[in-house]
Amino acid sequence: MTNASPTYVFPKGFVWGSATAAIQVEGAASLYGKGPSNWDVFCREHPEKIFDRGSPEVACDHYHRYKEDVRLMKETGHTGYRLSIAWTRIFPEGYGRTNPEGIAFYRALFDELLASGIEPNVTLYHWDLPQTLAERGGWENKETIEHFVHYARTCFELFGSRVRLWSTLNEPAWTTLQGYVTGLHPPNQTSHRAAIQVSHNFNVAHARVVKDFQAMKRAGAFAAGAEAQIGLVLNMSTVYPATKDPLDVRAARLADGVLNRWFIDPALKGVYPEDIWELYRSCGILPVHTESELALFRENTVDYIGVNYYYPHYASSDAPESAYHLNTSGKANEDCVFAIKDLFRFVKNPSGKYTDWGWEIFPEGLYELLWRAQEYRPGIPVYITENGVGMNEKLDDQGTVNDEARIEFVREHLKVAHRAISNGVNVKGYYMWALMDNFSWVNGFKKRYGFLFVDRATQARSIKASGRWYREVSARNGF
Ligand code: BG6
Repeated sequence: MTNASPTYVFPKGFVWGSATAAIQVEGAASLYGKGPSNWDVFCREHPEKIFDRGSPEVACDHYHRYKEDVRLMKETGHTGYRLSIAWTRIFPEGYGRTNPEGIAFYRALFDELLASGIEPNVTLYHWDLPQTLAERGGWENKETIEHFVHYARTCFELFGSRVRLWSTLNEPAWTTLQGYVTGLHPPNQTSHRAAIQVSHNFNVAHARVVKDFQAMKRAGAFAAGAEAQIGLVLNMSTVYPATKDPLDVRAARLADGVLNRWFIDPALKGVYPEDIWELYRSCGILPVHTESELALFRENTVDYIGVNYYYPHYASSDAPESAYHLNTSGKANEDCVFAIKDLFRFVKNPSGKYTDWGWEIFPEGLYELLWRAQEYRPGIPVYITENGVGMNEKLDDQGTVNDEARIEFVREHLKVAHRAISNGVNVKGYYMWALMDNFSWVNGFKKRYGFLFVDRATQARSIKASGRWYREVSARNGF
């Protein structure tokens, strides 16, 4: 990095952060009073479904090493950190009695972050559902909504003096798809009817929590007062038609509706998209709903939106069968497959540049997503809550990783964010996925994402070249 003034200068106060999720880094999965989550149980009962039988039991041992991790955040220029709370650390059974050790852990973590000048951005639900609730129908059962609302309110009461930025759910579309359409994630179902019910219940749970948050904010529950904000984190992948054929254009619109608009529209506009509602109605799979649930959407839109962006989709109408496959091996010749019979099939971009896990690297897609938020509601604060690249990596002789490709990935996406800001989008911050190499769900641990390399045998952390680069970028507020 040179001493010359940065070409890309970001607005004052722009957040330079990274993200993780509780189950992906914490470990101590069965310790200190924590109850089991659906993912803990799934990984224990079906280790063969996780690449190399990886397990979140120890993950990155962040629970024990959080002080060191916060120090490393500081060393890599972090001014923000996005994390999630493990519901089962607060309520081991999902509701009822709370767990003082879990509460103390998050208080200590928040204090450590704040003392280091790093603002936490807290997600309430990043896919780890209490097992007790999973056994009673999980998100298909509306009772789960009630428990989630109570858990959220408890977190606001417990941590509202320390945390200003909150989000309700992480990527409800992705967790619904993988849990209820492809069946790759727990609860391993393949039922469109269940998927649509779950997605609706997620939307209701989100709106209920937003409502409570605003009431508690008015009542003074947050030290940040009016500055406290609640958002929703969405993986708003851009969907392009595979060709100019009107049928592919229609397939892309449908895919965008099912994956994106079904979640963005209620959260930002307060209503479901009419075409997708009509699609589900015509298939006889509209979710069980009430008028008061729909009214909740209208009355409880978000303060900000979190955008997770990894790669775009290209939709073809040629989808004679449903088919799903995720490349979890990191072998470049293993293609990802996603097709919903008679609706759409995602195809590869023949001229695209792909990672070893089959995800296209296409920074420009981020621009459209950021603009989209602006079109929905001009001026709405937008955080890039995840963006990053999974790679095959190992330590070199100097004990570091020279991850130039990650630096280029982040730099190119930041340039796009900078252009969106220059054109009027209110982008407030960037959280790289991830702070450290972590438990990558069914990919296990081979797919490495971090600024910090984590040695699987010793848990030793080493700052990669990207982490050192980020420190400079943050210090100069640009590059
Ligand atoms: C996002 C999730 O979908 O993508 C993260 O919010 C996840 O939890 C990240 O780890 C990368 O996906 P994966 O499957 O490669 O770990």
